[in-house]
Order: sequence, then C-alpha cells, then structure tokens
Amino acid sequence: MKRFPNQRIAITGGASGLGKALALRFARAGWKVAIADIHDQRGEETLAELQNLGVEAFYQHCDVTQVGHLQKLKDCLIHKWGGVDIMVNNAGVATHGPIDTASLDDWDWVIDINLMGVVRGCKLFSQLFKEQGYGHLINVASIAGLVYSPEMSSYNATKAGVVALSETLRAELAPSNIGVSVVCPGFFQTNLAETARSPDAGVQQMINKLLGSSKITADDIAHMIYQSVEQKKFWILPHANYKYLWYLKRYLPTLYHQGMVSMATKMLNKRKRATDALTTE
Ligand SMILES: NC(=O)c1ccc[n+]([C@@H]2O[C@H](COP(=O)([O-])OP(=O)(O)OC[C@H]3O[C@@H](n4cnc5c(N)ncnc54)[C@H](O)[C@@H]3O)[C@@H](O)[C@H]2O)c1
Repeated sequence: MKRFPNQRIAITGGASGLGKALALRFARAGWKVAIADIHDQRGEETLAELQNLGVEAFYQHCDVTQVGHLQKLKDCLIHKWGGVDIMVNNAGVATHGPIDTASLDDWDWVIDINLMGVVRGCKLFSQLFKEQGYGHLINVASIAGLVYSPEMSSYNATKAGVVALSETLRAELAPSNIGVSVVCPGFFQTNLAETARSPDAGVQQMINKLLGSSKITADDIAHMIYQSVEQKKFWILPHANYKYLWYLKRYLPTLYHQGMVSMATKMLNKRKRATDALTTE
C-alpha cells in the first residue's frame, strides 16, 4: 500500500473476531499492529500470534467508552511508532429485542460502545491524522446500518449512526488527505453472541446460530477490507446477498417494507405461540 509508507495500524476490539482477523491480515503483509480491547486474555493471546509472525505489535487494555483510554492508545502509538496510518474503529457489541420490552439500559450500553466508541476514535485520531498530513479511518458498522430488521432497533440505530458519521467524515476529511471506509457485513462467525443483551432468554444461542449460518469468515472479510483500503474504497459490503437487500430498499421501497412487515409478523406470531404454550402448561 503505497499511500501508507510507514505501515502502522491500530484496531479496537482487536482481541477477537473481525478485529483479530484484521490484525493478522495486516501483520502478514508486514504491518506494525496495535490491538486494543477490554478482553485482556484474548488480547495477550492475539498479541502472541502477531509476534509469531515476526512483526512489531502491542496490546493495550482500552475501553472505547472511556475517552482517556483511547487518548492513552494514541499517546502510546506516537511514543512507540511516531504515529499511525490506519485506525480501525471495530469494537462492538450486540443487542436485540422489541422496542416495548428492550431496556433503556441496553440502549445506553450499545450506543456508548457501538456509536460513541466510534465517534471518540474518529475525533481523537482525525486530530492526529491532520497533524501527520494523512491517515485513514476504517469504521466497522454492519448491514444493520443500511437495512433494518425488526426487533433490532437499538443495534440498527447505532450502526446507522456509524454509517452517517462515516459518510459525513468522508467529505469533511477529504481536503485534509484523510481517507474513510465503512464496513457493512452481514452475519459471520465470531464471539459477538457471548455478550449480547436482550430481554428474551436464549438470545445468545439464537444469535450464534445466525452467525454460524454465514459462508463468509472473519478472515475473508479482513482480506476484503485490506484490498478495499488499498483501492481507497469507501463502501465495503462483503455479503452480496445483503447488498441486494439494500438495493431493494433503495429502488423498490414498498416491496422492501412489505418484506420487513412479513418478518415482524412472523416474529410476533412466534412470541404469541411461545406465550400460549406457557399459559396452557
Ligand atoms: N459477527 C457479525 O455477524 C457482525 C456483523 C456485522 C457487524 N459486526 C461488527 O463487527 C465488529 C466486531 O465484532 P465481532 O463480530 O468480531 O465480535 P467479537 O465479539 O468477536 O469481537 C468484538 C471485540 O470487541 C471488544 N469490545 C467489546 N466492548 C468493548 C469496549 N467497550 N471497548 C473495547 N473493546 C470492546 C470485545 O471484547 C471483542 O474482543 C462489531 O462492531 C460488530 O458490531 C459483526
């Protein structure tokens, strides 16, 4: 990647799933890699894998809800490597549940990590990129930021926010020679279900089943991101089938809406059957 002669990347949520796959992908290309996460054990394990590849790397405990932690990550990057070329705002969690029963605490939690975590990363690292005269932000949203499945309103809202933020910064930061990409994958297997929150019992198994349904792996997506950044692409939509759903929403909005209503009706009927089964027991 000629645009980035120093080859230094930092990744939040870099201890697991897509963040880890990205760390290894860039390390295999010889990049220096900094991973930041709240899961210290996985962070240290990932660091060992990176060091086995013979690249310079470090792990830092960093909670993206704490601006001071991100500031410390930035200070460390300046101190160790004189700066950073690419910042990946990837750390994220999942929430689920109907609007009337999902808790406001879950809304606060997911907004603070998925949306405000990305906002904090963009704010601090765009300042550094302006000082350096170049840099690139990769924001990990989701296809849930473009098409909105029922019973996922809080997660959808955070990811739509990341898409809006990224589109805004794409234009705003272009004159400062700062690139932006937004990643909108569908489901793929990671540890995302482990910490998922919902008012419904069994949601972690349900999400895990959805994650396992994908033919595309985190490694495949990491590779696509690597290639897309090289080509200065803004939109990165790794799952073709979900991309068509987004096109459907844009070009045939009534049909898209009818599909979503049909999905919501099935979900509601399933809930009713479960409640009826409980009351007749
Ligand atoms: N797996 C999917 O199907 C899928 C689909 C679309 C988008 N995404 C997005 O991909 C990103 C990565 O998720 P993943 O699927 O690899 O899940 P994952 O759980 O395997 O990895 C997420 C990482 O983020 C870390 N994290 C959570 N809260 C944090 C915080 N406050 N500060 C710092 N780190 C924190 C976790 O410890 C974990 O290591 C997320 O933004 C997620 O929303 C995932």
